[in-house]
This record gives sequence, C-alpha cells and structure tokens, in this order.
Amino acid sequence: MARHAPIAVALDAPDLETAARWAALVGPHVSTLKIGLELYLRYGPDVVASVRGASGVEIFLDLKLHDIPATVAGAARAVARLRPSLLTVHAAAGPAAIRAAADAIPGARIVAVTVLTSLGEADLGQVGLAGPVSSAVRRLAALAVEAGARGLVCSPQEVAAVRAEVGDDVLLITPGVRPAGAAANDQARVATPEEALRSGADLLVIGRPITGAADPGAAAAAIAGSLRRAEVVHR
Ligand code: C5P
Repeated sequence: MARHAPIAVALDAPDLETAARWAALVGPHVSTLKIGLELYLRYGPDVVASVRGASGVEIFLDLKLHDIPATVAGAARAVARLRPSLLTVHAAAGPAAIRAAADAIPGARIVAVTVLTSLGEADLGQVGLAGPVSSAVRRLAALAVEAGARGLVCSPQEVAAVRAEVGDDVLLITPGVRPAGAAANDQARVATPEEALRSGADLLVIGRPITGAADPGAAAAAIAGSLRRAEVVHR
C-alpha cells in the first residue's frame, strides 16, 4: 500500500456529519486529521471517534492549551484516552507548562505553537514582545523543545530557521500551504506543498484546498501524488 502523504487535513467543518464525511474521504490518502477548537468545543471528545472511524489515521488535537502547568497537565490527561498523536500547547505558557503536558500524555507528541501567524511585529510589540517576529519564533521554539515539546508549528517561511535552531528530531508542522494555483483564502504567506517540504517541514496542515474541493478525496489524492512525484516525502 502507498505510504500516506505527510498531510494533516484541517477538518474545519460546520458540523460533525461534514467532518466525518471529509475524514472518510481523505483518510485513505493522508497520514493525519486535525481537529481544532471549534469542532472540539461544539461536539466534545466524541468528535475524535467520529472522524477516526475504523481507519488507522493519526489524530492531531489542535487545542492550543495555554494555562498554568497544573491545569495544562489536567487537560492533557483528560484527552489522553482519546489517543491523539499530536496535541498543541502554546510555547508562551512557559517551559513548566510544556513539561507538565509532556509528562501527562506520554503517548502523544506535544507540539508547541510559537507565534501565531496572525500576529505581526506591531502586534507582538503591543503584547510586550519586542523585536522581530523571527527572533520570538526562534526563542520560543528553543525554549519549548528544551522543555519537552517534540513538535512545533511554524509558517513555511520560518521552517528553515527553526530547523537550524532545534535539529532534526523535532516534527515541524506548517499551515499556510497552497498547491500552485489554489486560492490563498485568508492565508497571507503561503508556500506550495513541495516548497514547504523542501524547506524542511515534516507535516503540512492543509484545509480548504482539500475540504473546499468538489471531491475532497480526489483533491487529497492529487496533492499526495504530486508530493510523491516531486520525491520530497522524506519520512
Ligand atoms: O484552510 P487552510 O488550509 O487555510 O487551513 C489551515 C488550518 O491551519 C486551519 O485549521 C487554521 O486554523 C490552522 N492554522 C493556521 N495558521 C497557524 C496555525 C494554525 O492557518 N499559524
């Protein structure tokens, strides 16, 4: 069987039935399905079983936890029974919170969110983080990995610098991925799937170019095929 492409499909669906339908269509072609805050908060833990179905696809719980260490640990323990492969925590929650999450859910890879790509330098200044975004990203990346994060979310533009900072063992996950010719939607800084992998990304988060297609299964298969042809699938 063909190896599944290193793509996490963002299931940003309006309802559970749609999410489950997309999951069934794309599951045979991709490694991972990403469940975000909107779906999780609307439907709760049941959403995980609904999208996982009977498939062996990995679950990326993008809950972006950001709280004191004891609460982050409690939240991580609460979702451990859902067996996610990946769980996000904000790096800005601090090293103790990252460490607490990693200890609380040893079966999952804690993925740290460095700086949200919706924030520019002026926004960072307003919240008291001076200096260029790239320095904040590198500093938070190093801090999170030191504290036990084994994955990082970063933009395709930051991935090479982050890779140089944290080495090869950390899974680098990039949103803002658009196949050539696809609509950028609200993503400002985009890269094609091939470019993102060549820059050093390990897992590509792709939502609307797949879920907004008339046939999401075919769209996922087409991107997976283009990655195989470009021979950039390196893990
Ligand atoms: O539809 P699209 O491909 O833009 O979806 C990207 C997904 O990645 C969405 O679920 C979005 O919330 C998420 N994301 C992002 N930028 C980040 C972090 C997460 O677009 N920095």
